[in-house]
Amino acid sequence: MTAAQDFLTASSLHKAFDGAQAVDGVSFTIRQGEIFGLLGPNGAGKTTTIRMLSTVLQADAGDVTIGGFSVGRQGDEVRRLIGVCPQELALYPELSASDNMIFFGRMAGLSGREAKAAARQNLETVGLADRAKDKVDKFSGGMKRRVNIAIALMNRPRMLFLDEPTVGIDPQSRNHIFETVESLRDGGMTVLYTTHYMEEADRLCDRIGIMDHGRLISLGAPRELKARIGDPDQVTLESVFLDLTGRSLRD
Ligand SMILES: Nc1ncnc2c1ncn2[C@@H]1O[C@H](COP(=O)(O)OP(=O)(O)O)[C@@H](O)[C@H]1O
Ligand SMILES: [Mg+2]
Repeated sequence: MTAAQDFLTASSLHKAFDGAQAVDGVSFTIRQGEIFGLLGPNGAGKTTTIRMLSTVLQADAGDVTIGGFSVGRQGDEVRRLIGVCPQELALYPELSASDNMIFFGRMAGLSGREAKAAARQNLETVGLADRAKDKVDKFSGGMKRRVNIAIALMNRPRMLFLDEPTVGIDPQSRNHIFETVESLRDGGMTVLYTTHYMEEADRLCDRIGIMDHGRLISLGAPRELKARIGDPDQVTLESVFLDLTGRSLRD
């Protein structure tokens, strides 16, 4: 396979809630082995998009294929290929990091022995091997987030979905998450990453789709997007968003 092969294709995705379009005709492809960022302000439709892509939410219209399988018709096959780290943490506070992971690994169909081995390996990946036996309610928000990422890796996915993984966490965990995501990509993982922090998308993502009001308003490598409005070494993604919408991304 070539590096530029598409792993995910989303075509004309639509989703309305109570008559209001949350996602309004979104199409893009994600190449195998790239970090693709969905960047946009709160309410832009990033989480709704990720939920449709990851088989959690049924689209009103549109198609998605992941690794050659149809999300609408081959959900089980798709779920075997993907790991999902949702925006809201899902952890048992009374269990240790390791026991949380073993539980979710068993839910994903691993044997006890496989789950134990995968828990050890994935805690290592997120830099928490030395805290494996500690209860997660003692962890900082950033450490909990890293456990959640480790859980998303339990079924050895080929593609990882991360929904705003760095919101409200300490800088150390943030850097750990960047390093984890980069090393997963370097190991061949395809990653979809959502954020409303433009510096983060700029640093981490190979390509970015900028979303606003349920639509994809721009798509390309960070430098390409910046070069559309000026010198890419001077311009920021913030000013790209401002140029496209007339509004600040921080509003
Ligand atoms: N389950 C839901 N029920 C009703 N409205 C929703 C639901 N999920 C999302 N929305 C609405 O859809 C829009 C997009 O939300 P969301 O996808 O969460 O955006 P983002 O993740 O970019 O912040 C928002 O206006 C939000 O209020
Ligand atoms: Mg969201």
